[in-house]
Amino acid sequence: MMMAKCNKCLVVIIPLLLHILCLHSLGNDSFSRQPSRQLIFTAHNRSDSDPQQVHISLVGEDHMRVSWVTEEKHSESLVEYGTKKGEYSTNATGEHTSYNYFLYKSGMIHQVQIGPLRPNTTYYYRCGVSGPEFSFKTPPHKLPIEFVVVGDLGQTEWTASTLKHVDSKDYDVFLLPGDLSYADSHQPLWDSFGRLVEPYASRRPWMVTEGNHEIESFPIIHPQVFKAYNARWPMPYKESGSTSNLYYSFEVAATHVIMLGSYTHFDAHSKQYTWLQSVLAKVDRKRTPWVIALLHAPWYNTNEAHEGEGEDMRQAMEGLLYEARVDLVFAGHVHAYERFTRIYDNKADSCGPLYVTIGDGGNREGLALTFKKPPSPLSLYREPSFGHGRLRIVNETHAFWSWHRNNDTDAFIADGVWIESLRSSKACWGAHDQVAHEEL
Ligand SMILES: *[C@@H]1O[C@H](CO)[C@@H](O)[C@H](O)[C@H]1NC(C)=O
Ligand SMILES: *[C@@H]1O[C@H](CO)[C@@H](O)[C@H](O)[C@H]1NC(C)=O
Ligand SMILES: *[C@@H]1O[C@H](CO)[C@@H](O)[C@H](O)[C@H]1NC(C)=O
Ligand SMILES: *[C@@H]1O[C@H](CO)[C@@H](O)[C@H](O)[C@H]1NC(C)=O
Ligand SMILES: *[C@@H]1O[C@H](CO)[C@@H](O)[C@H](O)[C@H]1NC(C)=O
Ligand SMILES: *[C@@H]1O[C@H](CO)[C@@H](O)[C@H](O)[C@H]1NC(C)=O
Ligand SMILES: [Fe+2]
Repeated sequence: MMMAKCNKCLVVIIPLLLHILCLHSLGNDSFSRQPSRQLIFTAHNRSDSDPQQVHISLVGEDHMRVSWVTEEKHSESLVEYGTKKGEYSTNATGEHTSYNYFLYKSGMIHQVQIGPLRPNTTYYYRCGVSGPEFSFKTPPHKLPIEFVVVGDLGQTEWTASTLKHVDSKDYDVFLLPGDLSYADSHQPLWDSFGRLVEPYASRRPWMVTEGNHEIESFPIIHPQVFKAYNARWPMPYKESGSTSNLYYSFEVAATHVIMLGSYTHFDAHSKQYTWLQSVLAKVDRKRTPWVIALLHAPWYNTNEAHEGEGEDMRQAMEGLLYEARVDLVFAGHVHAYERFTRIYDNKADSCGPLYVTIGDGGNREGLALTFKKPPSPLSLYREPSFGHGRLRIVNETHAFWSWHRNNDTDAFIADGVWIESLRSSKACWGAHDQVAHEEL
């Protein structure tokens, strides 16, 4: 017992000390932050063989990956499911893994793919032949579809408030452009995060990409990056021809969603760049008239926080997204909300993507309060408040984007704008695109 206790404190203390040292070496943040609300540690209160931290994500056209953790090492990686409560007509088996991080050893992390599933349908399921029943609704196969978009989530009272507001209105798919748990090497916080989000992430697919808080490496002593993130939040990267969990793309209801990696190579010689080129070349605007991209460190940002951090990636990849007429780009990282106009190469351009920073999910670091003055004419709305965004794609040509600021009881719609898809804008498709576009 003493031994176990001591192991636990070392597990906590070593990475925290390392983290503090690393933060110091990064220097002085010159922007101010509003005090954040308290961290919520969500305790494990089921039995060791019961599933915990259940979450789901889309795989391919009609499958879902179910992920969960058990303390018990011999628990089966099996999901039973069906369309009636308590009646499981089908089951599927998968695999499990675990990882070590300094003295921390994770529970068994189970991954099971289920399907084929019908679109827009509620399924009931149970993991590992044990524990409670869960349910989810699959996204529709055609428009309309509603995405929730929120970055830099963390696990504070603000996070809980954001998730409660998200849940108060139905939606289909949750998109998270990086910075999930803010465990920052303290691995038990990954487990706590999994339990905090389970009521939401077990009901709707969560599609995530990585932020800087997922890296969790230390020079020499722990060079491996994204160990916990990759083990716990595997995304369907192979299905889109990617060789890395750090970038992938998927299609859902007439929308092609591209998840980019801000914390892996992106230059013209990188695998990510080549992969992005091939993905964009294959996009069929008849099947997916909408194309959106998500990444962590914003390419456009007028906040003093993290100024210029996305600039190298912008210079490397902006041309590809522009030529492909990507409709929207969402970023996180900056803990505030900011909406830009359509941009290409630092100039307003009606054929460029509309940029949004939505890094205001509720993490422990607080808000990035200081926006630069005078405001840039490219930036149309900016505010340092916690909240979440919603993209409702109504039909092939129209979508409504709204930003919902957290208020004490309700989420208040503070910003909203109708967006027209670039696919329907004839002026944006030049002679060389004629063949691709003339069938529209
Ligand atoms: C951080 O930088 C700002 C502006 O450069 C300076 O005013 C402030 O004193 C610095 N804070 C610390 C703790 O060094
Ligand atoms: C277990 O934890 C969850 C989430 O924190 C909570 O909603 C639930 O009431 C708890 N159950 C018991 C039996 O304590
Ligand atoms: C899983 O499905 C198979 C085949 O339908 C069945 O034989 C088996 O009993 C099921 N297992 C569980 C645990 O439901
Ligand atoms: C999804 O199902 C709901 C209710 O079952 C229905 O109202 C809605 O139109 C469906 N959506 C699509 C896109 O089929
Ligand atoms: C698409 O939705 C918009 C906004 O509701 C509407 O004005 C437009 O007529 C719709 N277009 C089609 C083709 O239904
Ligand atoms: C926030 O909520 C309070 C009451 O709960 C309300 O009086 C206030 O107007 C709201 N503020 C905004 C910006 O919605
Ligand atoms: Fe970040």
